[in-house]
Amino acid sequence: MEAPERNLAFDLVRVTEAAALASARWLGRGDKNAGDGAAVDAMRLSFNSLPIAGKVVIGEGEKDEAPMLYNGEIIGMGNGPSLDIAVDPVEGTNLLAYGRPNAIAVVGAAPGGSMYNPGPSFYMQKLVVGQAARDVIDLDAPVHVNLRLIAKALGKDTNDLVVFVLDKPRHQKLIQEIRAVGARIQLHTDGDVAGALMAVDQRSEVDVMMGTGGTPEGVLAACAIKGAGGAMLTRLDPQSEAEKAAIQEA
Ligand code: FBP
Repeated sequence: MEAPERNLAFDLVRVTEAAALASARWLGRGDKNAGDGAAVDAMRLSFNSLPIAGKVVIGEGEKDEAPMLYNGEIIGMGNGPSLDIAVDPVEGTNLLAYGRPNAIAVVGAAPGGSMYNPGPSFYMQKLVVGQAARDVIDLDAPVHVNLRLIAKALGKDTNDLVVFVLDKPRHQKLIQEIRAVGARIQLHTDGDVAGALMAVDQRSEVDVMMGTGGTPEGVLAACAIKGAGGAMLTRLDPQSEAEKAAIQEA
């Protein structure tokens, strides 16, 4: 009798589970760094028990700032497939710290050398839909055109569309444009990976995710959307980065 084959997907689920369980001890305790730290420790320990030759392409930052799961770190036991790894041990650190829903532990994996490395880029425009509307979206089309085509593809009225948007000042115009078509908005303080997953999950009431969010989160969401068969269009957004820098300087 042969031993059962190992399944990397299950192994990676265990990695996220370890991070989620460790950080859950910090739920609602107002300390996002402690929650993130607990998740990082647990995730790294868990990764290092796996038979993979992993390289962190998207991690907790550059080595001097991030002692663990830093960009470029080699993880795993080294005796398995070569993989590029993206991690976000707690995606939505404020959600965790303030005891809100939708903080998640996330990892993405791709064959070694194949994952997009966004480098220092911070923000990305994102447009995400599920399978049924995957062929009708266009990042360059006006919001009302995208929403009408998505509604048609889903067999819905635009008034019944639900759009996930992060509640950020940079989205004021986008919010007005979505409401002008009559669509509904779910405004969330954080967590656009969860938002992207909701957009591709038929069980969720969210039909679309729109707006600008973190670039690393965009790559992680793209891994899941590729697997789920939805569509995600993105573009790096230097304008939002400039706005963030101005806010930080002020
Ligand atoms: P963190 O877990 O790093 O706090 O990120 C949460 C998040 O809301 C992401 O989901 C999103 O992509 C990004 O922050 C948006 O950035 P900002 O809060 O600067 O608008």
